[in-house]
Amino acid sequence: MARIAVCPGSFDPVTFGHLDIITRAAKVFDELYVVVLNNSSKQPLFSVDERIELIKMVTKNIPNAKVDSFQGLLVDYAESVNANAIIRGLRAVSDFEYEMQITSMNRVLNDKIETFFIMTNNQYSFLSSSIVKEVAKYDGKISELVPPEVEEALISKFKGNKE
Ligand code: PNS
Repeated sequence: MARIAVCPGSFDPVTFGHLDIITRAAKVFDELYVVVLNNSSKQPLFSVDERIELIKMVTKNIPNAKVDSFQGLLVDYAESVNANAIIRGLRAVSDFEYEMQITSMNRVLNDKIETFFIMTNNQYSFLSSSIVKEVAKYDGKISELVPPEVEEALISKFKGNKE
């Protein structure tokens, strides 16, 4: 039986921190669905299509990673692709409470799907899409935080917003 997992997130936009988690998860599972979902507490900068395009570009060398989006509950998406695992990255203790809440809720919704956490590489423990957007907005250096395709997209997004 194939081991199928889902790696969900807002990915607004995808960072080196996400890529680290995706790369490591793809080594453990046969198929990994990287799925862009809606986080109702966030107002995204990039459209779903833009986010998908960027994830596809930066994961092109990971053959078992598939990129998708879904409007609805994560567990419903996982079930639709026959995944029985959810992968989340954990950066610091500050992530723990939120992750525990959504993991517990997901288990109430579907107890056949197990959530696994991967500790973020130390070098990315401070990194988040929000912090990258903040730095990019004020023309700060982001080349060490995101892949070149994402850097380019952020620069043109903020340039467009200023015009
Ligand atoms: O990258 P994020 O914003 O931390 O990802 C959170 C996300 C998108 C995975 C989460 O908000 C989510 O799963 N949204 C879809 C709706 C859902 O299933 N919520 C969990 C049950 S409350």
